[in-house]
Amino acid sequence: MSLTTNKNTAIPKNKFQFAQDVDAGLKSNPKYLSSKYFYDEKGDILFQQIMNLEEYYLTRSEYETFTLHKEEWHDTFSKGVDRFNLIEFGAGDAYKTKVLLNHFVDKNANFNYIPIDISGNVLDFLHKKLAQEIPKLSVTPIQADYFKAFDNIKQSSNSRNIILFLGSNIGNFTPSVAIDFFGKLKSKCGPNDYVLIGVDQKKDPNKILAAYNDSKGVTESFNKNVLVRINKELGGNFEPDNFIFFPTYNPLSGEVRSYLVSKSNQSVFIKALNNSYSIKAFESIFTEISKKYSLDEISKLADNTGFEVVNHYTDSKNRFINTLWKPKS
Ligand SMILES: C[S@@+](CC[C@H](N)C(=O)[O-])C[C@H]1O[C@@H](n2cnc3c(N)ncnc32)[C@H](O)[C@@H]1O
Repeated sequence: MSLTTNKNTAIPKNKFQFAQDVDAGLKSNPKYLSSKYFYDEKGDILFQQIMNLEEYYLTRSEYETFTLHKEEWHDTFSKGVDRFNLIEFGAGDAYKTKVLLNHFVDKNANFNYIPIDISGNVLDFLHKKLAQEIPKLSVTPIQADYFKAFDNIKQSSNSRNIILFLGSNIGNFTPSVAIDFFGKLKSKCGPNDYVLIGVDQKKDPNKILAAYNDSKGVTESFNKNVLVRINKELGGNFEPDNFIFFPTYNPLSGEVRSYLVSKSNQSVFIKALNNSYSIKAFESIFTEISKKYSLDEISKLADNTGFEVVNHYTDSKNRFINTLWKPKS
């Protein structure tokens, strides 16, 4: 079946990519659905709940690092230029970024904040919140997929771009996609630009797995939200309860991989695709990768994509790294 020639259904333009990706993922062997489709009104709230979970140490760690280093980063980012752009890929609700935004505004820094996110819902929320909380801040939100957003990095004299990629967003890339992403990013960066990345470190595998398998089941609902979205936006008839949520951690690769495993033989019909998909008992749908890095792997990734590490920063428990890169000269 071709999406473009299917005359029985009209897929709205803004749902076309979602429909195409769902069709490809459910026809593939093994099956997959991208975690970028977890995020809508409900998924954004679930992710905010995840950030507050006891097991999810990542947000607390990165928040602490920001409070420890906001002064130093202000000086680094503003040194030698009249103004800078803070361009954040996958900004979400910018909970931690607000530590920097508040500090930079207090210091009268001349900068523009450009949050980019695939979720229009979270961007609307963020835009309204920032207008209330930091009214002096100049904000230009952009709804886009990361890979379609590189043209927002523009060069101009006496200014620099700081690219933020926080909250272990990098972990959602397989190693080859990470190389592709940072290679493309590098081609848009000027010699004065910086990239600040939030990377979760390899550590006790039990701590890592618990962060993606919380006792309250919030992460399960978050993963299953992709099925709920398919039902709501594409007219699917998934029964989320017919799937077992099964996250795994491989300490060698550093990859948390999460799956939805079918409890029985089932067939799912998706109206917008005018198609049924068979899922066998105990067949899995791969939903999310969250890769953890060693310091060596971070340095290697920088080197392989045309960047050099300026410094690594961490929290008091050394759980999470914020690595600052600049383009290699
Ligand atoms: C794990 S959350 C982290 C949010 C934020 N960076 C933080 O540290 O709290 C990932 C964010 O990236 C967005 N996102 C996921 N995949 C994306 C993609 N392919 N393109 C753009 N945004 C994406 C999601 O909507 C979500 O807001």
